[in-house]
Amino acid sequence: MWDSNLTVQGICVLGSTGTIGVNTLDVIRRHPERYNVIALTANQADEKLFQQCIEFDPQYAVLVNNDAAQRLKEKLDVAGVNTEVLSGVESLDRVASLENVDQVMAAIVGAAGLLPTLAAARAGKRILLANKEALVMSGDILMKEVERYKAELLPVDSEHNAIFQCMPRHFEKGLEKVGVNKILLTASGGPFRTRSIDTLCDVTPEEAVAHPNWVMGQKISVDSATMMNKGLEVIEACWLFNAQPSMIQVVLHSQSIIHSMVSYTDGSLLAQMGNPDMRTPIAHAMAWPERIPSGVEPLDIFEVAKLEFEKPDFKRFPCLAMAYDVLNEGGTATTILNAANEIAVDAFLNRQLSFTNIPRIIEKTLETITKVEADNLQTILQADSEARQVSLDWVKQLEFRQ
Ligand SMILES: NC(=O)c1ccc[n+]([C@@H]2O[C@H](COP(=O)([O-])OP(=O)(O)OC[C@H]3O[C@@H](n4cnc5c(N)ncnc54)[C@H](OP(=O)(O)O)[C@@H]3O)[C@@H](O)[C@H]2O)c1
Repeated sequence: MWDSNLTVQGICVLGSTGTIGVNTLDVIRRHPERYNVIALTANQADEKLFQQCIEFDPQYAVLVNNDAAQRLKEKLDVAGVNTEVLSGVESLDRVASLENVDQVMAAIVGAAGLLPTLAAARAGKRILLANKEALVMSGDILMKEVERYKAELLPVDSEHNAIFQCMPRHFEKGLEKVGVNKILLTASGGPFRTRSIDTLCDVTPEEAVAHPNWVMGQKISVDSATMMNKGLEVIEACWLFNAQPSMIQVVLHSQSIIHSMVSYTDGSLLAQMGNPDMRTPIAHAMAWPERIPSGVEPLDIFEVAKLEFEKPDFKRFPCLAMAYDVLNEGGTATTILNAANEIAVDAFLNRQLSFTNIPRIIEKTLETITKVEADNLQTILQADSEARQVSLDWVKQLEFRQ
């Protein structure tokens, strides 16, 4: 329904060619009266970005890769589209802080998402945060910049969006003060929840990226298979909700119907449910505090019939245990974990490393590097770069070994 009081929101989608980016554009497509695409960005997918430019006619399109940017520019010239093409990493910061941008979807995968997300915070934007790695690497700095520049940080990760929906108002004052005593973070357990532990060393990239419930990018799919994704989410939840690690309980819920729960001191347990489709949390964050159609079918609870829960097995999923450990250790430990994980997952996807060596690379890297206080960006970027180098060395040593 048309509402004449609506002000059109300018949107920048960082990582528009990825799974989250494409789902975001699908929500935008359904609400042309509410959202205007100002900028789209990708790393190198020029053809996909070209198609998106034809449909959404953004003011800017960024491709980090220079050659890909040149190809996009030529295609847009031929098609007569006026979008200005930019290249290089610094262009991501530029479009995330444009004056006519109100909301920034932070959906770049990995550490590359940190700087543009910080740029959006410093420009006081509403940040729709899918890129959990930004908080894992640099939670303290990002949260402080959000506060300092009066930006807004709304979680898009389905679990954190669910928690946000179940939280009382003013939870930022402290969870105990608002009667919250636990956050139950649900996890599907990925494709190897029941596979024999002895055969995990034979897992192929194709098996690891085949998630039973969600369609996601390759890196997060492997993270889900190792449960590092849940570990990163525990860290993300601590920052977003100002929670102690001991307040976050991971619950295996293979159906992915409940997206997380919040437990209150009066005995109430609030859960957010829905079909596993990222357009729900994306639309929620984009329209908050309003609600808009997202294209997701309502949940048929009679078809679901019953809900199942289990405790996670930390032996099967050592990455989850490591995430709790680094969180308790503090400082640059979470940055190192994140960087080592990115290198290990990449090596696994390139068939240089076995699946069970992913946690070993992370463990060895964490053992090798001295952790320091993570109180400024330079220290964090240095820790990230050192951890990448050290884990690459470990990959060479463990390559092709079980
Ligand atoms: N997918 C999900 O369901 C889901 C759910 C919750 C949270 N998340 C989080 O959302 C983020 C995105 O996930 P995704 O599954 O959408 O990933 P994805 O499908 O792999 O897409 C990643 C996007 O980031 C761009 N990109 C990759 N490397 C880059 C770099 N170095 N510099 C600039 N841009 C770069 C890619 O561009 P190209 O296409 O050119 O490579 C693409 O647009 C991740 O942090 C993930 O943990 C995802």
